[in-house]
Amino acid sequence: MKIVRLPKELQKLALQVRQSGRTIGLVPTMGFLHAGHLSLIDEAKKRADFVIVSVFVNPVQFGPNEDLDKYPRDFEHDRALCEEHGADVIFAPAPGDMYAADRSVWVEETQLSRGMCGALRPGHFRGVCTVVAKLFNLAQPNVAVFGQKDAQQAQVIRRMVRDLDFPVEIVTAPLVRDADGVALSSRNKYLTPAERERARVLSRSLMAAARGELDCDGLRKAIEAESDKVDYVVWFDADTLEAPGPDTKCILAAAAAYFGRTRLIDNILIQVKK
Ligand code: PAJ
Repeated sequence: MKIVRLPKELQKLALQVRQSGRTIGLVPTMGFLHAGHLSLIDEAKKRADFVIVSVFVNPVQFGPNEDLDKYPRDFEHDRALCEEHGADVIFAPAPGDMYAADRSVWVEETQLSRGMCGALRPGHFRGVCTVVAKLFNLAQPNVAVFGQKDAQQAQVIRRMVRDLDFPVEIVTAPLVRDADGVALSSRNKYLTPAERERARVLSRSLMAAARGELDCDGLRKAIEAESDKVDYVVWFDADTLEAPGPDTKCILAAAAAYFGRTRLIDNILIQVKK
């Protein structure tokens, strides 16, 4: 497994791989890898000959008061896990090599990114789209794998790929949970044991909603009772990220809430019975 630091070096390598007739799978991450990320690498391995994992805490998707500086990092651990899961390359650039000091071009999705996390984290999805577009240009992937954990992000990226004609297939892999139901997240590291216990309300109430035991209101009340602040609870058409209509095939029930100072997100897909 190779570690590549320079963007141009990755692009050169990717072009060589493509020219040799092999397909490339890309898994973009911000590192501090856990089993959720690893499931994406496994999925990419199934779908492509050559797998590139990017590990880059992308500064431009963090707001001024967010956790950029304290975002957890452990490159040696990430390297060992990528190796174990058969990645071919880790791309881990320095921020200064990814972004010119006088950069002036952004990629912005303006519809699907308006609600949910986009409403509470201004500029977040613009930062995500910009870095993912750059990663696509550098890694030249045939397929890129994203997690259902970040349901809105996956939809925004699909829209970017459609509207800007990126020649990349987007795969969304299922959300991976811990044994106690909590969705795996690099940010779980911030939780105290008591906060972690309360955080179980997200998965517990979303699963109750999927069983038809809670509606959107009930879901909100359950999460409000255990969390310190609710950012949003939504009940949307999973494709449009808008209120469900007669054509809705699948509901996305999603929530974002604080446990102590840690903001967690979780969601579940509910098939509409016709
Ligand atoms: P990060 O939070 O590191 O997540 C990287 C990928 O792992 C995302 O596609 C995310 O949805 C997926 N993932 C995280 N937790 C998961 C879980 N429990 N189950 C399944 N998949 C999970 O998302 C980002 O980084 C960044 O925004 C990025 C796309 C890399 C752009 O900077």
